[in-house]
Amino acid sequence: MIELRSKLIEKYHAIGIQGVVSPLRICPLGAHVDHQGGLVTGVALNSSVNLVYSTNKDGYIKIQSMDFPDEEYFHVDDVPNVVPGSWGNYIRGAVLSLKRDYIIKKGINAIISGKLPIGGLSSSAAVTTAYLMALCDVNNITLEKMDLVYYSHWVETDYIGLKNGILDQASNILSQKNKLMVMDCLTDQYQIIELHPSTPTFEFVIVYSGISTALMGTDYNNRVDECKVASWLLNELNQEPLPNLKQAKLRNVSKEVFLKYRENLPGRFARRAAHFYSEQERVIKGIEAWKQGDLVTFGALMNASGDSSVHQYESGCPELITIFETLKQTPGVYGARFSGAGYRGCCIGLIDPAFKEEIIASIDQVYPIKHPNYKDVYKIHFSAQDDGARYYTFKE
Ligand code: GLA
Repeated sequence: MIELRSKLIEKYHAIGIQGVVSPLRICPLGAHVDHQGGLVTGVALNSSVNLVYSTNKDGYIKIQSMDFPDEEYFHVDDVPNVVPGSWGNYIRGAVLSLKRDYIIKKGINAIISGKLPIGGLSSSAAVTTAYLMALCDVNNITLEKMDLVYYSHWVETDYIGLKNGILDQASNILSQKNKLMVMDCLTDQYQIIELHPSTPTFEFVIVYSGISTALMGTDYNNRVDECKVASWLLNELNQEPLPNLKQAKLRNVSKEVFLKYRENLPGRFARRAAHFYSEQERVIKGIEAWKQGDLVTFGALMNASGDSSVHQYESGCPELITIFETLKQTPGVYGARFSGAGYRGCCIGLIDPAFKEEIIASIDQVYPIKHPNYKDVYKIHFSAQDDGARYYTFKE
């Protein structure tokens, strides 16, 4: 933060500097069910996107990223259109998201930086939340946490065009250190589950594949539509009225109806639904295991979630599947799965920290040989948990 602050002073002669720490997130259980109104779990990492900013009273947005070239520069009254793949989309979307309900007169001069590679850790939700918090601060807007989730989510869905649910924003904003955030994506009610005092020490390993393509370019949106079609087909087979596309969610169709008509569903739709219903059960069992400090059971559920994501949901890419399969077989790893959607980015493992060296060796022995294109760019990190997005005040 201190380095970013110096940079902000140097570049924009800023005074009255504030900061936001916006953590990256992983999803231990509850893969690809948020957009279907399912139950998801989320954890914030102690790696974050950091933003330092000061008020721009004239209403300009001036942002320099430490990770990308080019300065983002526009006036809040004249927000540029979305540019596919541009890092600037998130600040543009953040301004537009708030402008739906608030008068935004002041902009920000800011420096932003992220430490971990992009892909699968929801850096997009993390940056968007950081921008929203900064804009709210300088424009005297106070938001409830859940509203911040919605304003941040709007940017991804309505501005960028991803059909995702609220897993990323909820995990980034609502998480608490050493606890498990559980969101019911149908009712938007969430719980924070305490860790049992007897839980053995654990951390997460994060293995970055070297692939950072945007989710928009993957099969992600198609899968969401396939789930919706599966729910429609089940409604139809059960002779129920069909809800509109927005309301068409597997959570609105009971498991009994699925089991009754499973054989009548075309293969891919049956597999998507099978993933949904089994993942719901894994989340429920996972919450119990977490409450009891039973990392072995929790880890086994993560492995099963990863298997279902690959075979039933058919997400993932060869590189991430290699990392997943390797972690699953590595001593000291309770369980592994994709950190997010699985089309690129990272795979995570819930680990016993005493085994870090073995875990590094296990990945190093397999990944660069099987995927030589990424041998110079893949990375292995270890991370503990942290709180959700928060303001950072500098001591003068
Ligand atoms: C991405 C999306 C989330 C969620 C996960 C898969 O991270 O942004 O909304 O669907 O994939 O669980």
